Amino acid sequence: MKKKATIVTVLIFLCMLLVIRFPKGGEAVVSGDCEVCHSLYPGMMEAAAPGKPLRYVLQNSMCVNCHSNAERNTIKMLGGARVPVVYSRVEPERPLSGGNFYYVKVFGDRRGHNVDGIAPVDTKNMFMPPGYDRFSDPSAVGFNDKKPLACAGSNGCHGNRNIENPFASILGTHHSEDFPVDGSTTARSYRFLKRTAEVKGVTGLEDKDWGYTASSKEHNEYTPSINSFCADCHSGLYRRDEIGNASPWFRHPTGIVLPKRGEYMKYNPDVPPPADSSGIRIYSLDAPVARPVVPAVSSEVVRPGTDVVMCLSCHVAHGSPNEFMLRWDYDSIVSGEEGSTGCFICHTGKGE
Ligand code: HEC
Ligand code: HEC
Ligand code: HEC
Ligand code: HEC
Ligand code: HEC
Repeated sequence: MKKKATIVTVLIFLCMLLVIRFPKGGEAVVSGDCEVCHSLYPGMMEAAAPGKPLRYVLQNSMCVNCHSNAERNTIKMLGGARVPVVYSRVEPERPLSGGNFYYVKVFGDRRGHNVDGIAPVDTKNMFMPPGYDRFSDPSAVGFNDKKPLACAGSNGCHGNRNIENPFASILGTHHSEDFPVDGSTTARSYRFLKRTAEVKGVTGLEDKDWGYTASSKEHNEYTPSINSFCADCHSGLYRRDEIGNASPWFRHPTGIVLPKRGEYMKYNPDVPPPADSSGIRIYSLDAPVARPVVPAVSSEVVRPGTDVVMCLSCHVAHGSPNEFMLRWDYDSIVSGEEGSTGCFICHTGKGE
């Protein structure tokens, strides 16, 4: 009798081990009440027949649905799990660091990536990424311009872009240990941005609340690998030899070090560093820079001569209130409004 009780206890304990996952390094791993999520979307991972591959029903809309919210808050609770919200159906109180698809849905094409299930096809670009070049895209499948942009998969941004199906391309990541973020696997790529199996995924330091409470001290840390990721679909805007005579802003250098001279020594002039520090500046969430290597903790220090201009210095990834998914209203900057905003956070000499 006693033996039986012990076995039962051991079994219960083993079951608990299966259910409760212990995240290492404080990184988030989805766990908890399985039903909360898995019954929301019945068939999420159901096999069509035993032994057959999983059938992923409505995969892309599933990503959209779970990561959206009818209310203003941008972190929603699902059982015990915090879900980062990237598409708010009402104006978001505080967009997460990638921005919010609300803007492209409500204010139209120029405000964001027209992702399937959120916004209809972009009337200017259609399904085609501006500057797309098949030879520069490491994906074995490539971008299919007859099909809409998706969250993940070969026509999307997240996951392994060698795999066409959005769900299959990130399968397993939500439950995997995702630290360190070294780009080795999809789960260990920054925000699951693996690019493809053959190349290194995006690296970085993931802010624990996805930028919800971001400040100059506590924020995501990017590396220039984010530029390569954006360039997988937009290489024509990125590679100098392909830029030609288009709008001068396409020529903006990206992936270059913020020079340790002249106007750049006053990066973010509105927030000067303490008087006793020399050669350093304070990080601006409005024109963030990338780090040459992933730091262990996020830092408010910006070093001209070391830190790097990236696509996300000017753009957000999902959607913003401004044209071209910029971090600021470009028109009001070029028309010479007061203050050191937008371009003038780096080009401090021109704002004076
Ligand atoms: C917060 C929502 C959520 C909760 C809670 C949740 N899951 Fe999942 N699960 C997902 C999502 C989303 C996917 C599909 C995407 C992926 O695999 O990353 C998934 C995929 C899976 C998969 C297939 C991929 C893999 O890792 O093999 C299994 C198995 C799974 N879940 C089991 C569980 C179990 C068991 C629990 C309870 C301990 C659980 N899930 C709780 C959201 C959740
Ligand atoms: C059932 C709800 C659910 C579905 C469906 C779902 N997710 Fe998630 N997702 C979550 C939760 C919960 C988290 C937060 C996990 C954590 O704390 O890291 C998350 C986190 C993420 C993250 C951020 C990872 C990080 O590093 O913080 C990405 C990117 C993501 N999901 C993409 C997707 C994509 C793409 C799909 C569709 C293929 C998808 N999700 C489907 C619930 C879901
Ligand atoms: C999987 C391919 C893909 C990747 C990767 C990608 N984009 Fe795009 N992007 C597109 C497509 C498709 C369009 C055109 C349709 C649209 O605007 O939604 C586009 C349009 C844009 C536009 C113009 C928006 C407009 O509507 O005028 C900007 C700006 C942009 N992308 C920036 C970025 C940045 C920054 C990154 C990296 C964080 C990135 N993209 C990564 C596919 C991609
Ligand atoms: C210094 C700021 C800055 C940086 C850095 C930057 N961009 Fe842009 N980008 C802009 C501006 C401003 C526009 C609006 C273009 C215009 O109106 O001339 C733009 C436009 C775009 C467009 C839309 C082009 C079109 O034809 O619709 C895409 C796509 C884009 N950028 C992608 C990128 C990618 C990818 C990177 C990184 C490799 C990047 N940008 C880096 C400022 C920047
Ligand atoms: C994150 C910092 C940063 C931001 C924000 C920024 N720039 Fe730059 N910009 C630079 C750096 C660094 C250079 C290269 C300086 C050098 O090498 O001499 C540069 C160069 C330029 C050049 C010279 C072009 C070339 O090919 O060398 C122009 C024009 C320019 N920027 C315009 C803009 C405009 C317009 C904006 C706003 C849309 C902007 N910049 C935003 C950092 C920035």
